[in-house]
Amino acid sequence: MNTVLITGANSGLGFETARRLAAAGRPVILACRNHDRAEAALEKILDESPNAQVTTLALDTSSLKSVRAAVDSLSGVKLAGLINNAGISPLHDGKTPDGFELVFATNYLGHFLLTLLLLPQLTPTARIVNVTSDMHNPPGGITWPGVEHLAHPSKVDRRKYAYSKLANLYFTYALARRLKAQGSKITVNAFNPGMMQTNFAPATRTKEEVDEIKRRMPDRIGDLDTSADTLAEMMTKPSLSKRSGAYVDRDRGVARSSELSYDERNQEELWEASLRFTGMETLDE
Ligand SMILES: NC(=O)c1ccc[n+]([C@@H]2O[C@H](COP(=O)([O-])OP(=O)(O)OC[C@H]3O[C@@H](n4cnc5c(N)ncnc54)[C@H](OP(=O)(O)O)[C@@H]3O)[C@@H](O)[C@H]2O)c1
Repeated sequence: MNTVLITGANSGLGFETARRLAAAGRPVILACRNHDRAEAALEKILDESPNAQVTTLALDTSSLKSVRAAVDSLSGVKLAGLINNAGISPLHDGKTPDGFELVFATNYLGHFLLTLLLLPQLTPTARIVNVTSDMHNPPGGITWPGVEHLAHPSKVDRRKYAYSKLANLYFTYALARRLKAQGSKITVNAFNPGMMQTNFAPATRTKEEVDEIKRRMPDRIGDLDTSADTLAEMMTKPSLSKRSGAYVDRDRGVARSSELSYDERNQEELWEASLRFTGMETLDE
């Protein structure tokens, strides 16, 4: 009844959050694209917490077919928490089998479909968290290029990661609005973990580059343990049960996201297009 599903739970933030929740006695589903990495994560959690209730689920967020298959295999399972965490860096190029830009589909669109399909299986006071990044507002800023540019860009755009994380925020705010309008007690919030040492971009930054980032943007540096503690608390702390539609920073609590992220017209443009892209019609199809 208290089960939490975490996407991308075999590594980094997803794994650290899963092991905290499992150690605290919460049943956890590790939703991962790679079977062996998922099993290794499960074994590690069981080594630490032998009584933990942990299972794995095959899920590739870049494939709408995989998302639907994962939800089918969860038939009858009730979830009290959903952490949409899986993500890839802008260094990944390409298109998904569904024809979408890879980073947009992996970081955002797959989670949009997963969440909408799982809504009927969430408990009445379930908590959803979408992992975003303060890089939704990169140095120099971004403007809204329209959904088509995110989904089907005519050429590679290095801002695609920022757009995907802005999309996580647009999704959070648009879904929170809808849940509130329906009188639902399900909450949805966005989480910014800050820059952490994970598998996210392992060999791409030299020590000098990291030092330069720390010098230029000290407020963007996070810490994996602090972020995982905060993310796990977003699932468990009773005092957070009613907060919805917020942008939560790993050590600053509720914060303001970029001005662009509050643009409701853009939020609605993305919502409508996402329904079309995923073949969904309503919130609870
Ligand atoms: N690290 C940072 O500096 C930073 C900063 C701000 C925000 N974030 C966000 O934090 C989240 C977690 O990232 P992390 O830093 O923990 O990186 P990580 O260690 O690379 O973990 C990412 C997880 O996502 C999984 N994943 C990637 N593509 C997937 C797909 N198509 N389907 C299912 N799972 C997939 C990975 O699986 P594999 O092991 O199979 O690749 C891995 O389990 C991401 O949303 C990222 O955008 C990270």
